[in-house]
Amino acid sequence: MNYKTVSSVLFVCLGNICRSPSAEAVFRHRFESAGLPLMLDSAGTDAYHAGEQPDRRSAAAGRQRGYNFSGMRARRVTDEDFEQFDLILAADGSNLLDLKSRCPDHLAYKLDMIVESGEVPDPYYGGSDGFELVLDLLEQAADRWIERLAR
Ligand code: 4NP
Repeated sequence: MNYKTVSSVLFVCLGNICRSPSAEAVFRHRFESAGLPLMLDSAGTDAYHAGEQPDRRSAAAGRQRGYNFSGMRARRVTDEDFEQFDLILAADGSNLLDLKSRCPDHLAYKLDMIVESGEVPDPYYGGSDGFELVLDLLEQAADRWIERLAR
């Protein structure tokens, strides 16, 4: 993968209401600050929450740190996403396996994890600490990806 040619990134989790919208918001903020004008979006491997706004707890924790969630609506990953996006980043190993099972073999090189050799744990059924941990991990991950993608 030639990271220097990446111009679009899709973030993927299970429901597209907690981790991947938070990733989209955090990465957009950090990429803009770094002068990296990439097209960002997020999606879920499942459609349980399709059409919903980001989880209230995720959005509140993110807004507290200055991130913007306006206009976001959950959607499921589509077949076109594998063609359209240059890089598709999964929140956890289960999300990556789901993506691999749907992605055409010749496009599988686009799949990777948001956190290098680690996971962004699902905060949905836990307490507020989980949402803060998600943001901490995403902020670190954004800085790592900026190093890779910076032109
Ligand atoms: P996400 O979190 O994958 O980070 O959006 C979840 C959202 C909803 C559910 C699980 C995880 N759920 O089971 O409804």
